[in-house]
Amino acid sequence: MFKRPRGTRDFLPDEMEKRRYVEGVIRRVFEGYGYQEVQTPTFEHLELITTKSGEEIKEHLYHFKDKGGRDLALRPELTAPAMRLYISEYQQKPKPRKIFYIGNCFRYERPQSGRYREFWQAGLELIGSSYPEADAEVIAVAVDVLEALGLKDYSLHVGHIGVLRRILDEAGVGEEDQNRVMGAIDKGEGEALEHLLDTLGLGARERELMAGLLEMEGERDTIEKARELLEGREGPLRELDSLEEVVEKLGSFGVTDYVIDLGMARGLDYYTGTVFEIYAPKLGAEKQICGGGAYSLVEVLGGKKAPTCGFAFGFDRLILALEMDKFKFNEVKKDRYLVVSTTEGLLDEAIRISRSLRERRKIPCQIDPMRRRLGKALSYADAEGFSHVVILGEEEYKKGKIIIKELETGRQSLMDIREVEGFES
Ligand code: HAM
Repeated sequence: MFKRPRGTRDFLPDEMEKRRYVEGVIRRVFEGYGYQEVQTPTFEHLELITTKSGEEIKEHLYHFKDKGGRDLALRPELTAPAMRLYISEYQQKPKPRKIFYIGNCFRYERPQSGRYREFWQAGLELIGSSYPEADAEVIAVAVDVLEALGLKDYSLHVGHIGVLRRILDEAGVGEEDQNRVMGAIDKGEGEALEHLLDTLGLGARERELMAGLLEMEGERDTIEKARELLEGREGPLRELDSLEEVVEKLGSFGVTDYVIDLGMARGLDYYTGTVFEIYAPKLGAEKQICGGGAYSLVEVLGGKKAPTCGFAFGFDRLILALEMDKFKFNEVKKDRYLVVSTTEGLLDEAIRISRSLRERRKIPCQIDPMRRRLGKALSYADAEGFSHVVILGEEEYKKGKIIIKELETGRQSLMDIREVEGFES
């Protein structure tokens, strides 16, 4: 017996039905805002992935050399591939460019509930605008997806990574070291962070500002409190102003329920501005169902500098969150017909009728290729959740009729074959 590789899953039909349903809602909401779907390869050149994504990603990559000696990696996320695609296909086209994707990603992580080695992301990228309404729209789309799905228990945290970065800039900390600081903050590694700030030689005042910001989490007046803390520091204050503008626009998009979180630092290194995360608290340690923000990647990958903002849902975690919220995925039971002939002589007619039901009447319909007798076919149909069994009996057939049995009620009715075949409808 072979086992699945660690951290991967099989999805059985019930699970797939839920996943396709959620996917459908996501697509509808994304498309409603004008985002267009793209698909990129499952593996990419290693360098695309390691450029500017940071240690967080590098440590967790599946990478390999192919037979031609090229260094490749299974994609751990879709932002870098999406930016590669943007540079080669869309750079000369009008902006904004709005793209979305739903696809599998791979990270070599320690598997646990909500954390897998193969998982799915559903995300989008808005390229070309640095106005606050662009960032606000991106956040609003994510919230709209959750509202459209009816997820009840979630919280949106909005921050701005530029505020922390400008303090570090002013303290003379270079970008690489800043990324390490952000990594430690993101992972909640307090001691490592203290140690790092010691080695970077941060002065007492900067330490105080950093510590103060990391604690700042609350309602909209948090921005005002941060402004007091940062008095006289022009760089960080400007970033705070831009966060305030985004928050203001969020209101126009109808998003009013959020936590301002100035201690938020994302794991990936490319973020530069507004950042946000959405948590489903019931998921415990892996409660982050969505993450994103404004970032800078196009020029690092060889394109012309362009402002970008986006997010990705952890699709699997979204499903888990809905399940924990007791979400009803299958309220509408779909019709499924099984066509059974009571004699072998009517088998070809059963095949023809099943074709008519599928093609003319658009009903999902199949024959029983196991050639079960009627009694067994009925129990099979019941056990497999068919809604109806179409029975071809010799007597009725001679009169040009078939029997349609509704399994839930047991009700039987006769139907004209010509009608089934669509000649009289
Ligand atoms: P990320 O926060 O690394 O951001 O991943 C996005 C989401 O993917 C997370 O919030 C989480 O729900 C889910 N996720 C991550 N790792 C796993 C895993 N091992 N198992 C299950 N789910 C996981 C990004 O990847 C960015 N590319 C998002 C983005 C798009 N930023 C701008 N544009």
